[in-house]
Amino acid sequence: MNQIENPTPSETSIKLGDVSFPHRKVWIKTYGCQMNYHDTERLLHHLEKLNFAPVEKEEDADLLIFNTCAVRDLANQKFYSHLGETKKFKDKNRTKEVKVAVGGCVAQTEGKELLKKYPQLDFAFGTDVIDNIGDMVYRTYAGDEKFSITTWDKTNDYSIETKIAPGTPQAFVNIIKGCDKFCSYCIVPFTRGREKSRRLQEVVNDVKKLVEYSGIQEITLLGQNVNSFGKDNSETFAQLLSALDEVHGLELIRYTTSHPYDVSDELIAAHGTLKKLAPHLHLPVQSGSNSVLERMLREYTVEHYLELLEKLRKAKPGMIISSDIIAGFPNETESEHRDTMKLLDQAQFDFIYSYAFSVRRGTKAARMEDILTDDIRGRRLREIQAHQLGIQGKLRAEMVGKTYRLLVDGESKMHGITKWKGRTTCNRIIHLTNIPENVSLKWHWLDVKVTSATSLSCQGEMIEDYGTKILRA
Ligand code: SAM
Ligand code: SF4
Ligand code: F3S
Repeated sequence: MNQIENPTPSETSIKLGDVSFPHRKVWIKTYGCQMNYHDTERLLHHLEKLNFAPVEKEEDADLLIFNTCAVRDLANQKFYSHLGETKKFKDKNRTKEVKVAVGGCVAQTEGKELLKKYPQLDFAFGTDVIDNIGDMVYRTYAGDEKFSITTWDKTNDYSIETKIAPGTPQAFVNIIKGCDKFCSYCIVPFTRGREKSRRLQEVVNDVKKLVEYSGIQEITLLGQNVNSFGKDNSETFAQLLSALDEVHGLELIRYTTSHPYDVSDELIAAHGTLKKLAPHLHLPVQSGSNSVLERMLREYTVEHYLELLEKLRKAKPGMIISSDIIAGFPNETESEHRDTMKLLDQAQFDFIYSYAFSVRRGTKAARMEDILTDDIRGRRLREIQAHQLGIQGKLRAEMVGKTYRLLVDGESKMHGITKWKGRTTCNRIIHLTNIPENVSLKWHWLDVKVTSATSLSCQGEMIEDYGTKILRA
């Protein structure tokens, strides 16, 4: 029997208790990180059991859900303005009744305020009750009005079964939730709660089922700080990776995100020896200045960080490293900013996500007096991005003529031309130029030779097509 159910909604009504569930449509808008995207997969899975099918356009939906992100003000503002627009869907003269819900990281900290402020909102739910969406939807259709559920799971265990989007060989697998690091700028410990790991064997059994019954070949292990996995159970992240490396039929293991403080020698060694581990590490550094790192409460120095990169590149030659940078942390001096620019040269990141510092209510950094203006932050961010693009251009040029393994995941349209594209095992996107029209390569494993590259995109030619499966022992 298929262990991972993807039920098809029924055209006729289903009845649960006193509530009837005719066939309805749900629209979900997801903001933020991959964890939120995976939470959306979980929401859809539960809602399908209540006879909901997903739709792309909000005007077609009976239920609108916003799965929100609170990490920076920009994400918040986008969500508030979009939520404001949903009022029109609740007009009395409409032929159907529309329900509106907000979940995720903003709802976790502001659920009750949102319900008061937005009359169109029916309910709000936090990050730890994602898997109870069925009960909440039942309540709303049973007539309960304006409720907010933001409780934390108080047990020491974190036990779940992975839910996947149907029809793809790729799956996100949560292995740890929450974060105990409390970096001074970051809201996540308040929106995702305390750190809790799943048990190693549960994750391995889960992945074996995904491979065996759902055809999953590539997994991305998820957590805000995956490499502190297992601390509460005397298990380690490297042990988990070694066990997953043995799963027959699994091709590729990615993971995100890691904290430099928890990159152990055991994990570095695993990158050197494990066959299925992607040769890529996303390792956010945040700043190239030790004094800023101290104010950020990051628990490492620039020297330690660079030493980690050296060890990783020695263990796995060609290892690709990417990172996150925050420009304009409170009171950052010009000299501290220049230290970050210098770090970009030293680290040679393949790509970075960079952001201007954004004040988050309740964090330590929000209580720091700050003399920087938005203009200074914006200028420093632009300098960081321009400098990184130069480095990236040089690194990408070095890819030309080399061959990479990738999984084709879709098509992209550039200048009116549609091309198949995929992500290499080292996490670079390559657009394919030598594929005849009408040939479908979706979910094929290929070897691709890079023919041209700029700092932002790579083009390549297919040199080997392995089809939709390459079985590695
Ligand atoms: N857990 C990861 C780590 O330890 O680096 C990062 C998770 S956080 C969701 C993603 C990125 O958002 C961070 O690496 C940081 O660069 C950025 N970020 C978090 N809080 C921020 C803030 N207040 N202002 C600007 N950027 C922020
Ligand atoms: Fe936020 Fe720091 Fe935790 Fe990352 S490690 S989620 S930046 S508090
Ligand atoms: Fe945003 Fe929450 Fe992720 S704040 S980055 S959606 S953990």
